[in-house]
Amino acid sequence: MKRILVANAKGGCGKTTLATQIASHFAAQGQRVLLADYDPQRSASDWLQNRPAGCAPLTIHPAWQAPLPKEPYDVLVGDMPAAIAPQAVWQVLKAGDKLLVPILPSPSDIKASLRFLMALNLADLAKGGIEVGLVANRVRGNTEYARRLHELLEKMRLPLVASIRDTQNYVRAMDHGVSIFDLPAYRVRNDLAQWHALLAWLDPSYNPAPQAIQA
Ligand SMILES: Nc1ncnc2c1ncn2[C@@H]1O[C@H](COP(=O)(O)OP(=O)(O)OP(=O)(O)O)[C@@H](O)[C@H]1O
Ligand SMILES: [Mg+2]
Repeated sequence: MKRILVANAKGGCGKTTLATQIASHFAAQGQRVLLADYDPQRSASDWLQNRPAGCAPLTIHPAWQAPLPKEPYDVLVGDMPAAIAPQAVWQVLKAGDKLLVPILPSPSDIKASLRFLMALNLADLAKGGIEVGLVANRVRGNTEYARRLHELLEKMRLPLVASIRDTQNYVRAMDHGVSIFDLPAYRVRNDLAQWHALLAWLDPSYNPAPQAIQA
């Protein structure tokens, strides 16, 4: 089973947005997806409750209160809560996992995210066979803070696997139980294009549809 965890102790940086988009992407590919909601705020569970009947099905599990089910799944996507202690993240991580860390390009978000990554210990993550990818989220053009974030990531030698723009498409998707992968491509063309590198990082066999490449 492919395991992808989305975590950052900083609140509101886009963990649930990324986790629901990723879960929905794999579900749309016909994979059996378990979305593990580790957050007692239950934002991912709320999202799934609003999912329209015609969308690719996926399973949610309240991982904050119960151990993961034993049934086989192809993909597990974990949505971690804010203010989480490094030990709690380590309890969930397993060798072979991909850990995605969304970061907003603002000074306080960059500092808090850096502290989170330092507390997790990048050397231990590498030793534990856990790959870390960072996602710049809610990016608005070439701001000073977007530039600072890029500089920081280069220094830390961590891959920036996506740079996702700030758009109401994600806010609306969260509200309606869908993802950009469930919407007509012409409406989210710019957004789909920003996901190719991330999806290829998660799954080296990822092969976007020809119309998606042209986006
Ligand atoms: N790229 C984006 N463009 C516009 N709005 C976004 C984007 N990403 C996230 N948001 C919005 O920002 C808010 C916080 O996002 P989200 O809930 O995904 O963050 P979170 O890290 O899961 O928060 P928490 O720490 O509370 O769990 C939500 O209202 C979401 O719709
Ligand atoms: Mg959340």
